[in-house]
Amino acid sequence: MVNIEQPKGKLGVLTPGMGAVATTFIAGVIAVRRGIAKPIGSLTQMGTIRLGKRTEKRVPKIKDFVPLADLNDLVFGGWDIFEDNVYEAALKAGVLKTDLLNQIKSDIEQIAPMPAVFDQNYVKKLHGTHVKKAKTKYDYAQLLIEDIQNFKKSNQLDRLVMIWCASTEVYLKPQPIHESLSAFEQAMKENHPGIAPSMIYAYAAIAAGVPFANGAPNLTVDIPALIEFARQQQVPIAGKDFKTGQTLMKTIIAPGLKARLLGLHGWFSTNILGNRDGEVLDDPESFKTKEESKLSVLEYILQPEVYPDLYHKFYHKVRINYYPPRGDNKEGWDNIDIFGWLGYPMQIKVDFLCRDSILAAPIVLDLALFMDLAQRCKMKGIQEWLSFYFKSPLVASGLYPEHDLFIQLMKLKNTLRYLKGEELITHLGLEYYD
Ligand SMILES: NC(=O)c1ccc[n+]([C@@H]2O[C@H](COP(=O)([O-])OP(=O)(O)OC[C@H]3O[C@@H](n4cnc5c(N)ncnc54)[C@H](O)[C@@H]3O)[C@@H](O)[C@H]2O)c1
Repeated sequence: MVNIEQPKGKLGVLTPGMGAVATTFIAGVIAVRRGIAKPIGSLTQMGTIRLGKRTEKRVPKIKDFVPLADLNDLVFGGWDIFEDNVYEAALKAGVLKTDLLNQIKSDIEQIAPMPAVFDQNYVKKLHGTHVKKAKTKYDYAQLLIEDIQNFKKSNQLDRLVMIWCASTEVYLKPQPIHESLSAFEQAMKENHPGIAPSMIYAYAAIAAGVPFANGAPNLTVDIPALIEFARQQQVPIAGKDFKTGQTLMKTIIAPGLKARLLGLHGWFSTNILGNRDGEVLDDPESFKTKEESKLSVLEYILQPEVYPDLYHKFYHKVRINYYPPRGDNKEGWDNIDIFGWLGYPMQIKVDFLCRDSILAAPIVLDLALFMDLAQRCKMKGIQEWLSFYFKSPLVASGLYPEHDLFIQLMKLKNTLRYLKGEELITHLGLEYYD
């Protein structure tokens, strides 16, 4: 059993980016706190965990099993390139109804973003005015560290976590300056273009001892320099890219096809969405970052090298189209060409009318609470057990990521059992028939 520090005092949740996802999360938690709505979709709030043998009938709620911060103890803050407070930003995002936002207005209009670290070279479609000014990327990091410390002090917080909810940056390849902490720090001082704003936030979080999770597909913390830094500072990190919408569906359906040995000729996915995220992804360079993150999922789940007769050279295409009339209410179509017994072809069509931020908000909440738990358990570096929440899970070098949602959930729950000294569940179950 691991010695878990109790969650005493208040937990600050900082989000770089206070747009659709972040405001839906913040307003949602406050609405839940006030008893206006239920935290649907949140494993930490509604999920249960089976303990011991099936005959024991021990199935507590996860939040009663592991010591998580209470929703009443969360304090919200963050940064954005626009000055809108959470009430105004949520109204503009158009995800939650005005009526709901008005009921909690007094709480959420007090939460306003701090000036951001932003560089338009990394998000081409946005022009921000609420931004910091400094000479070097290293200086920017110091300003963020000051923000974190001031936020902690002025809100009398015990602990903090940071979840990246800002726009998707242009595609960056790993480079030599990402290889070690010393090369990374030197490159920050030289304003190297290989260092994106999200990396500066991640660096600042780790330097300040704050767990960092990345909700976007940017490289960000997924580089040896910052992984090394996180281990050195004893800070948990996780990423990347919240698993919502179409990719969530993919990681539900694909394991099922593979389980029944059904083959795949092709999977064509297309989306229309009209929120600011969609606008940012309309830029080919930001889309490339997203595309990489979405494409790898099927390869890893289906393992064509292990099942060449079923999955050799299946065709996989993902399109995202910016279509303003839909706002945050995305529509995602999947055409899946499969084949069965003797190679006979069949098709599956999925038309998912989803709400991106409604799917993402509970993930932000769970990550905030689990990243804080990880830190109180003295877990440091990559938190692979939180892969459940990501499209491109961070893993140790040399390992392939596990994308199957059900294996990810088993890993997450077994990690919680391990932390509490409970028997791990293997689903063997032969003992019931002895
Ligand atoms: N909603 C989902 O289902 C989902 C799923 C996976 C990933 N994501 C990712 O989550 C992120 C947020 O999505 P969203 O729908 O809230 O987008 P959004 O455009 O509504 O919000 C992003 C906010 O980040 C701000 N921003 C941009 N660069 C910044 C910087 N350097 N510092 C501080 N703020 C900055 C923007 O001004 C904007 O307000 C995106 O990267 C998106 O790709 C969302």
